[in-house]
Amino acid sequence: MRVEENKPLAPFTTFGIGGPARWFVEAASEDEVMEAAAWARAQGLALFVLGGGSNLLVSDDGFDGLVLRVGLRGVAVDDVERAGEKNYRVAAGEDWDGFVERTVRDQCAGVECLAGIPGTVGGTPVQNVGAYGQEVASVIKRVRAFDREQDAYVEFSAAECGFAYRRSRFNAEDRARYVVTRVDYRLTPGGAPTLRYADLQRVLAESGAAPSLAEVAAAVRRIRLAKGMLLVEGDADCRSAGSFFKNPVVSEDEVRRVAECSEKEPPRFPAGDGKVKLPAAWLIEQAGFSKGYALGAAGVSSRHTLALINRGGATAREILELARQIAAAVEVRFGIELEMEPVLVGL
Ligand code: EPU
Repeated sequence: MRVEENKPLAPFTTFGIGGPARWFVEAASEDEVMEAAAWARAQGLALFVLGGGSNLLVSDDGFDGLVLRVGLRGVAVDDVERAGEKNYRVAAGEDWDGFVERTVRDQCAGVECLAGIPGTVGGTPVQNVGAYGQEVASVIKRVRAFDREQDAYVEFSAAECGFAYRRSRFNAEDRARYVVTRVDYRLTPGGAPTLRYADLQRVLAESGAAPSLAEVAAAVRRIRLAKGMLLVEGDADCRSAGSFFKNPVVSEDEVRRVAECSEKEPPRFPAGDGKVKLPAAWLIEQAGFSKGYALGAAGVSSRHTLALINRGGATAREILELARQIAAAVEVRFGIELEMEPVLVGL
């Protein structure tokens, strides 16, 4: 295990923001994860687990503890295809989009709508990554993780992960307790693609015939590109952490109140249990922030209102100030409290 000191974190984040980690370790094996956690404990240091850095806002002062980058690699596939399923055991440090590409090549359905999402496999169960009608919760079979409290490896079934919209036990009640090292996904060989999302249906309707998994994944990438949600070198619109706020899930009463506060009827999506998901992007626009809005070097993406971006040399402080102004405007206008989506480090 190689411990580095004062390692700049900005290059490890899609925002390109953040000061140094006081200590930094890249773990390539489960033993190294354990060793790093023990080292942090012995030194009385806080520990932060870094994956792909695509959902992070790191403080300008950095992190005064140990940053553990999970670098475990490898994908193992079940030789025997059980009735209608194929299992992939994927090390947490694998690139998520690379894994999606592989499953599509293998003609296995289940994650094709999650193409083009930046980050690593280990982060997917933590925030229950979801997009275009799919969520990893529906294909995760098991999560293996290091338990810092018990100092041992443990495994969770999907039911034990406590998945909900952008939520799991790993980012809620057990936040910071586990280091995810492997995720097992159960996919469907020869399965049909998921075509639930209106945007996606629209894009694919043009081609006529029933689309293949590869066509759906390609369409998702095109939509993401158009929204600045695909990483493209040198494009400031994607220097972000994806969606900066969660879409608020509200009651019918609250929807009525929002409608009364606006000339336009709010777009709405069913969220189960009689609840409604309102697009945070729409609320933000109605509250006066348009695409391309700038506050110093921080800004709103010119292609999607929900992405706050680093226009070049932005500080975490500037991003947070813009986020604060946006949330305050939405609160004043609609009485709805927006919740931030990225993980804040050292803030
Ligand atoms: N909208 C606007 N203005 C915009 C963009 C969107 O008003 O600039 C409204 C429209 O009414 C649109 C609705 O918002 O129909 C939904 O927009 P979109 O399909 O782009 O989805 P989103 O709600 O902005 C969510 C996820 C994304 C995910 C997409 C696609 C959250 C917080 N975000 O975004 O996930 O890729 O749906 O499924 O749930 C992420 O979490 O970082 C992320 C990118």
